[in-house]
Amino acid sequence: MSSLNKFLYKSTLPSSLQRVILEIMRASKYTAHAITTEETGKSGETNVQGEEQLALDMRCDEIFCNILSESELIASFASEEQENEVEINGENGKYSVAFDPLDGSSLLDVNGCVGSIFGIWEGNGFIGKKGKDLVASGYIQYGPRTTAMISFDGKTHEFTLCEVGEYQLTKQNISIDSIAKIFAIGNLRALPERPEYKKVLDYFLENKNTLRYAGGMVPDINTILCKENGIFTYPSHSEYPNGKLRLLYECAPMAQIMMNAGGNATDEEGENIEDIEIVQLHQRTSIILGSSSSVDDVVDILQKK
Ligand code: AHG
Ligand code: MN
Ligand code: MN
Repeated sequence: MSSLNKFLYKSTLPSSLQRVILEIMRASKYTAHAITTEETGKSGETNVQGEEQLALDMRCDEIFCNILSESELIASFASEEQENEVEINGENGKYSVAFDPLDGSSLLDVNGCVGSIFGIWEGNGFIGKKGKDLVASGYIQYGPRTTAMISFDGKTHEFTLCEVGEYQLTKQNISIDSIAKIFAIGNLRALPERPEYKKVLDYFLENKNTLRYAGGMVPDINTILCKENGIFTYPSHSEYPNGKLRLLYECAPMAQIMMNAGGNATDEEGENIEDIEIVQLHQRTSIILGSSSSVDDVVDILQKK
């Protein structure tokens, strides 16, 4: 079995990009430790999104910020937990990294699976770029095992953190079925005001699909990638008129990971997530992601076609 290091060395990625990926994965090891040993309580602070920050949201953010700040390769980074872009080496850096240091933090107090999500772009900064410009993306899931999906060069692969702290390749070239049998239907709060979303639920039920919903973007999408089948939906509604999930450090990386596994990822109007321009660090979008023909069906239902 290949280690992540060896898998990267054998890839066509520039060694500088390999090193950035390995730095991010180094941060994930500290994050995995913090999650299992530190308090899951509230920090008393709120982030730029007005969301209550847990102590671990801030701790995991600090881990990623510190490790990325050490690298001469980083031009700048952006975090869910930081209001503004943080410039490290600016134009002298090679890559900019956007990350959600702790995704699904509302699951910490119930000991649910949580994760970190990252996207890597070339150059300095994010505004004006798109998900299609990502040169690598990935997430880490902190569960009974620590696993990661890392995507580059048009493919998506799974790695597992083994006992000596090494990430080992555990699944190469993930490939998603085109028709979903598993569904992760998010934001059911939208049902009362969006009867067309009720039709989406009926569509899944009529197809006798299996519900797998954790309430965390990383565990919900990880189920789809590990089973190589499924669909994740998180549409907009009055509370989140543009959707809840953030384009830069949640939806754009997840879209690349899924598309490089042969799936699809659009917003509820059917626009490819990878084509949406980043105009604001914390901009939100609706997202329908997973088995490609099921994504098309859900968008058609939502668009009342
Ligand atoms: P985060 O913990 O980084 O703020 O992300 C939470 C997101 C995402 O993980 C999940 O899909 C979604 O919030 C669920 O939101 P609701 O529980 O409000 O539906
Ligand atoms: Mn998140
Ligand atoms: Mn988060």
